Amino acid sequence: MKTNIVSTASGKANAYALFFVKKSVQFSNVLSESAEKQVESVLNGMEEGPFEDLEFLEIDNQPTIFVNAAKERGLSSLDHLRMAAYRLAKKASKRQIPVVSIMLADAAPEQFKSILHGLHYASYNFDAYKSKKKEAFQVTYELVAGDQTSEFKKIADTVAIEHKAIVLAKNLINTSASDLTPAEFVENANTIAKYTPGLSIKVRNMKQLEKEGFMGHVTVGKGSSHEPYMITLSYDGSKSARGKATAKSANKNARTSADHLVFVGKGLTFDTGGLCLKPPKSMPEMISDMSGAATVLAAIQAIATLELPIKVSAVCCLAENAIGNKSVLPGDIFTAKNGKTVMVDNTDAEGRLVLSDGLAEAGLIGATHIVDLATLTGAMVRALGYAVAGFFSNDDDLALKVINCGEACCEKFWSMPLEEEYADALKDHFADLKNTGSDAGAIAAALFLQEFVPENTAWAHWDIAGTAFVSKSWKYTDFGATGFGVQTLIELARRMAKGDNSENTEEANDENIADGEYAAVEA
Ligand code: BES
Ligand code: ZN
Ligand code: ZN
Repeated sequence: MKTNIVSTASGKANAYALFFVKKSVQFSNVLSESAEKQVESVLNGMEEGPFEDLEFLEIDNQPTIFVNAAKERGLSSLDHLRMAAYRLAKKASKRQIPVVSIMLADAAPEQFKSILHGLHYASYNFDAYKSKKKEAFQVTYELVAGDQTSEFKKIADTVAIEHKAIVLAKNLINTSASDLTPAEFVENANTIAKYTPGLSIKVRNMKQLEKEGFMGHVTVGKGSSHEPYMITLSYDGSKSARGKATAKSANKNARTSADHLVFVGKGLTFDTGGLCLKPPKSMPEMISDMSGAATVLAAIQAIATLELPIKVSAVCCLAENAIGNKSVLPGDIFTAKNGKTVMVDNTDAEGRLVLSDGLAEAGLIGATHIVDLATLTGAMVRALGYAVAGFFSNDDDLALKVINCGEACCEKFWSMPLEEEYADALKDHFADLKNTGSDAGAIAAALFLQEFVPENTAWAHWDIAGTAFVSKSWKYTDFGATGFGVQTLIELARRMAKGDNSENTEEANDENIADGEYAAVEA
């Protein structure tokens, strides 16, 4: 896919695309007078019969694709715009249309951003394991932006960087476990750090982890022939904000903030369940049990590339939960990095063990805010499914930011309780804690993690077990990794850098785009 942002249509397009909402066309003040009249009569004719999404019609002797941008149940208007653009791109590529001109001159910036996201999502194809690679037809999109051209060009650059990160996360997650061992993950992270200016990396292997007392990794990883690793990636954009007043990174709103945002990602390159073996049916999906680590790696890559004026680190907790003669045994007790002792009640509750080290590392490097991402519990999948991630937080301000950033990125989050009444269930007879707790499995896991959060640190835990990977087609993913969370993490860093606590303009968009039109037609 190629995108060109132009102020007026070049005349080279093989088809024009118009986004419509019931009786009105959106983003189209670039149409000629006669085209506008024809479009109006086409849309007026909608009352006589159903009007197909992506219908091809001749307008002004130009093939024109009508793209339905009406709001869909459950999706925000911005998300529906993404979906509409995604469908358009799938169709254009299937029909092998070389150049499609999208008429967008009166789009709001966030609408433009959504359409671009939709186009990018459509061009993702994971065929690393196919014997015959299908060469996808490359469509060039000409986005007609009128006098918003220069602003939209900047947005397009940002979206391209964000999507590069999303593709990185998805590729890592979709790669099978024997090809993406902890060591392979480290190699990928080293390459990323090498080619991303401002991003540094520290890697600890099994020996170093053991020496420094990161026993969660050692306990989980020792049963595998692939040794565990912990990676810490660091980027300090607060310096560039301070140092270069006129540099492109120096946002005029940037504070010389003392915030240090640390992401921690669960990176189980495979989770067999260990000796508490998983049933075969649910096992293949465990190639995605490193989604948290892939997501935080991808997000920090984008944040560094975008030169956001904030200090951000990402800790990837990598291990393979396998069965071997050195595997941890149920009932074994180890001492975690913060000194608490933990009895391994169930070897399949391994994510929280490696995360205890990740949280400790976040404290050691001076986190003021921690966001951990983990495909942590089946209970979360059962509670919220694949469309919504549950999150837990000890800080109301951070929790609100998560919800708002998610909404802006079309990623849904639901706040879950750190219910103290269930905390006692984590207590063990011999050790301080055990790694299983109350029947409320997602809450039990979050309460366990809370035991390892450094003092006076704002923390949010995202359980992405349902949202990271889908086994049937959902929104802009056919099967496999969704890339969920990459955008919201980037947006969080962006808003924290700005000291921005504002809410989204989503409701205003909804009103502008859809509701009025629906009311008029349905009345
Ligand atoms: N990786 C799994 C959680 C998971 C389940 C992720 C489904 C994605 C899809 C995790 O390590 C796990 O097995 N958790 C157990 C914990 C239990 C033994 C306390 C679970 O949720 O069943
Ligand atoms: Zn497990
Ligand atoms: Zn797991």
